[in-house]
Amino acid sequence: MSSVSSTSATTGPLTCGLSRAAEEDLPTTIFVFGASGDLAKKKTFPALFHLFQHKLLPKRTRIIGYARSNLSREDFFERVKSHLGADAGNDDIAAFLGLCLYVRGRYDVPDDYVALRKVAEGQESALGAEGASRRVRVYYMALPPSVFVDVATQIRHTVYDDACTNRIVIEKPFGHDLESSRQLSKDISALFAENEVFRIDHYLGKEMVKNIPTLRFANVFYEAVWNRNYIANVQITFKEPFGTEGRGGYFDEFGIIRDVVQNHLLQVLSIVAMNQPRSLGAEDVRDRKTEVLRSILPIQLEDTLLGQYVASADGSKPGYKDDDTVPKDSTTATFAQCVLHIDNDRWCGVPWVIKAGKALDEAKMLIRIQFRDMPNALFPSLARNELVIQVSPKESVYIKTIVKEPGLSTNLAMSELDLSYHKRYQDIHIPDAYATLILDVLNGDHSNFVRSDELDEAWRIFTPLLHQIEAEKTAPLPYAYGSRGPEGADEFARKRAGYKRTGLEYHWQAPV
Ligand code: BG6
Repeated sequence: MSSVSSTSATTGPLTCGLSRAAEEDLPTTIFVFGASGDLAKKKTFPALFHLFQHKLLPKRTRIIGYARSNLSREDFFERVKSHLGADAGNDDIAAFLGLCLYVRGRYDVPDDYVALRKVAEGQESALGAEGASRRVRVYYMALPPSVFVDVATQIRHTVYDDACTNRIVIEKPFGHDLESSRQLSKDISALFAENEVFRIDHYLGKEMVKNIPTLRFANVFYEAVWNRNYIANVQITFKEPFGTEGRGGYFDEFGIIRDVVQNHLLQVLSIVAMNQPRSLGAEDVRDRKTEVLRSILPIQLEDTLLGQYVASADGSKPGYKDDDTVPKDSTTATFAQCVLHIDNDRWCGVPWVIKAGKALDEAKMLIRIQFRDMPNALFPSLARNELVIQVSPKESVYIKTIVKEPGLSTNLAMSELDLSYHKRYQDIHIPDAYATLILDVLNGDHSNFVRSDELDEAWRIFTPLLHQIEAEKTAPLPYAYGSRGPEGADEFARKRAGYKRTGLEYHWQAPV
């Protein structure tokens, strides 16, 4: 149940009502496969630590890291510690590490999984939980896709325990096109039931993304204008100020559409566009999101603009192909802008522009909803209203609003109604997306995870385009590292989506 609270009330104990898992306090074993890798070090363990610090983990939790690396317990702890945050107290860290163990094992050797199971059973029995049916085992796969199904198979055959609740957490990439994703879903569904599978898209754990249903369905005025009668176009934009340095080899196989657009941005789109779910229950929400995806036709190449970054104008930053791990003739896009249409009553005729790029001029992820011009305006049309939900950095919601210039003047001015979280909620620390998602896993709540039919629809929308780009080796347009993207991107949004950019003299500034 959600409740309404004032700012100060929300700074109270975080455990209250948030963690069913902590309240039920079932003995819980979290296995982290790929525990010595980057994802585990940078995201999984810090998220678990955050939950531990806020008393959101069940008291009887054990975390077992599993990987091939020959690490001593101390080496492993050092790795885990390296990303726990500068302000983490030593006592907290020591107490958290007290819950953690490391088991070295290969990914394809059944005996190693037998050893792992024995360690888990030993821990469960020490916690007084051996054999108890009300136990939870979470298998977190922080692993490359190449070993994914093998490891899931070994887990299912050797570590999975019919007597307890089992949950598997998997990370993208979920295949590289419709066919491979279907194969992966088939392989997984042969091992785990859909309600045991948690497919992470970490954008679904971001504060402002989780906030969208609340904004829309708890406030009468947003929902009243949330349709084709008032909205001219919607833009969902992801910009990163750095290139693929260090992971060019990995990235070249995927490209920006598979890396960010087909998953993160499409997930955000489906929440912005969905009809009101019957309840906040996972299946009702996911039904609504899937419905939106079903109404989107596959994207056409002519509705897409692709780019690839070259060295910065001053030569200080390298181009994509300057990376030794990237083939010199690569046509992989590091920038993509697509226009798509949702063919239903609410959105018919409203273009959606989704844009993502690496090595651009700034770090930003936002949703920009541009409203139609005022009909029969009493005032000259200065610019369009826009509702902007800034997901990162500096979470904010603002509405670009025209006011009379203050003072004696009767001129119009562009201003904004501004809800900047760092101003309004100064005492609140917004947790990393992974912490909220792992908490959902512990609570058994699927609403912020991708269901297999949603995934299927997402690939259906992008696969023909991806295959065409690959077959034709469509040449991306060059853009300089640190620029706004390929020349023509603004014009593309204007022409294809009717987007009217507010005059350059107006620039929203996050309040300090
Ligand atoms: C990942 C992509 O899924 O998301 C990365 O693989 C991208 O390329 C990252 O940088 C962005 O996530 P965030 O949370 O930093 O916006």
